[in-house]
Amino acid sequence: MLTKTAFILLALTSLASAQDHSFTPVDIEEGRRIYRSDCTGCHGGEGASVAGIDLVRAKYRLATSDEDLVKTILNGVPGTGMPASVMPHSRAPMILAYLRSLRDAKGQKSIAAPSGDPARGKLLFESRIGCAGCHRIRNEGGRSGPDLSDIGHLLNPMEIETEILDPDAQYPFGSRPVRVVLKGGSALTGLLLNQDTYSVQLVDQEGSLRSLQRSELNRVQSAPSWMPSYRGKVDAQELADLIAYLRRQKGTQ
Ligand code: HEC
Ligand code: HEC
Repeated sequence: MLTKTAFILLALTSLASAQDHSFTPVDIEEGRRIYRSDCTGCHGGEGASVAGIDLVRAKYRLATSDEDLVKTILNGVPGTGMPASVMPHSRAPMILAYLRSLRDAKGQKSIAAPSGDPARGKLLFESRIGCAGCHRIRNEGGRSGPDLSDIGHLLNPMEIETEILDPDAQYPFGSRPVRVVLKGGSALTGLLLNQDTYSVQLVDQEGSLRSLQRSELNRVQSAPSWMPSYRGKVDAQELADLIAYLRRQKGTQ
């Protein structure tokens, strides 16, 4: 299986050749953020909610090239439900990079039992296997991994399974570990949390929030995850129980 880094590089190379533009993990994360806020309402989390169009499997009605797609995203499709957007031009290719990263992640087979019990999953999550030592759910648990209180909205069951079995072989998705190299040469590793035009926010491995000005950054690279793989450490039923529990975590509802 490809490593996370290889996946990102692969996604970057194919897009770079198509568009003469290279995408960092930060760009893909930005694409995810915009997709989640501006596009899921109509196209759905899986990209297939508009009839005849599947954004993850690259099934379109009209577009035949990346250039067409960027134009569609910016200008909409006049006379249809697809609205024009006021986002900066540079953002549209980041959405495509994100959608491509999801496509690369398709095609895996589940090894979890067919149905899981969320109550057993909760016990397991909080037990010996240590998930809660790194992850918080509704303010309980550690901080060196992402907060999972809304994970049921963010990842589908297969994505959760892949994360548990191969945290480092995952596609660029959700909160990703990055290594940030500053202009002075020093580096820090953490989870990418947020970013805007001027700054990038990370949570470092100790769980502290770090905010960096873009002007101080030399580069942002993907880094190996510090989440251990649970392949061979949980059985098929335990895996299904964990997934059932995490799928229920949908924010404040
Ligand atoms: C208000 C609903 C709505 C929103 C919001 C929306 N879309 Fe669409 N989108 C549509 C509809 C409906 C179509 C089908 C248009 C048609 O009939 O050809 C479409 C078509 C598309 C197509 C396919 C064009 C083709 O050639 O077939 C792409 C790509 C696309 N949308 C991307 C996006 C992205 C990316 C976003 C977020 C920035 C987005 N859309 C936001 C409703 C929406
Ligand atoms: C040593 C700390 C650590 C432990 C223990 C740990 N994780 Fe993680 N986990 C992380 C980190 C760091 C990430 C983010 C990087 C990545 O995607 O691998 C993460 C990511 C995740 C994600 C994806 C979150 C997102 O927003 O994309 C899920 C789901 C997850 N872990 C579930 C679990 C479960 C279930 C367990 C126990 C079986 C577990 N983790 C144990 C550190 C940990």
